[in-house]
Amino acid sequence: MRLDKLLVEQGIGTRSEVKALLKKGLILVDGNKATRPEEKVDESSVVITYQGKDYTYKKFSYYIMNKPKGVITATEDAKEKTVMDLFYAQCKDAPKGLSPVGRLDKDTTGLLLITNDGKLAHDLLSPKKHVDKTYFVTLDGELSSDDITQLENGVHIGEGDLTAPAKVEYEGGNTCYITIHEGKFHQVKRMFFAVGREVIELKRTAFGPLKLDEEKLPLGYFSELKRESIDS
Ligand code: URA
Repeated sequence: MRLDKLLVEQGIGTRSEVKALLKKGLILVDGNKATRPEEKVDESSVVITYQGKDYTYKKFSYYIMNKPKGVITATEDAKEKTVMDLFYAQCKDAPKGLSPVGRLDKDTTGLLLITNDGKLAHDLLSPKKHVDKTYFVTLDGELSSDDITQLENGVHIGEGDLTAPAKVEYEGGNTCYITIHEGKFHQVKRMFFAVGREVIELKRTAFGPLKLDEEKLPLGYFSELKRESIDS
């Protein structure tokens, strides 16, 4: 791969920025100063050093975020602050071109995956792949056993078919967990609305095999996924 392409993909700068960095001799390739943008490097083994930090090539990057309220799930927006504005303000070295996988409402908190692996993103969102998403829900009142049966068997949310089977874990009071594998617009809020309840707070606690650990990842924080999580 061309050296300048690799540097751009690793988020070191734009093509013209990395060209200028190379010209100034600020980039080391395997410990040696490199100056030619067109130099060919073996991305599977090369170590790039810039500003004292070593970079090894990663085709794709994967992060999880504990999304706070008040930001929208989009890559950019003319008016509103997006999750990616927050992300790049914190993860300055991350490669460009990352996007959130799926969507959480502006007032929803919790687990959001961010990647540039388009195939994985597509698979995780495909209704055919049945990837589970679990939400912790705070309601405006209690649930009856009939409400739970209806939510689990499927409810009408104004889209023709019933929602697909869901799992509700209710321990009394105004809170429960619900696990669904569909991802329709405002789906959880609309499902509870269908049984006469309003969602007051919504937090996603799991997405497929990924679980939110709020002690390690407070609201508004990001963490790069480890190899085992990516594989799973
Ligand atoms: N369902 C909703 O209603 N909102 C979300 O943000 C996610 C799922």
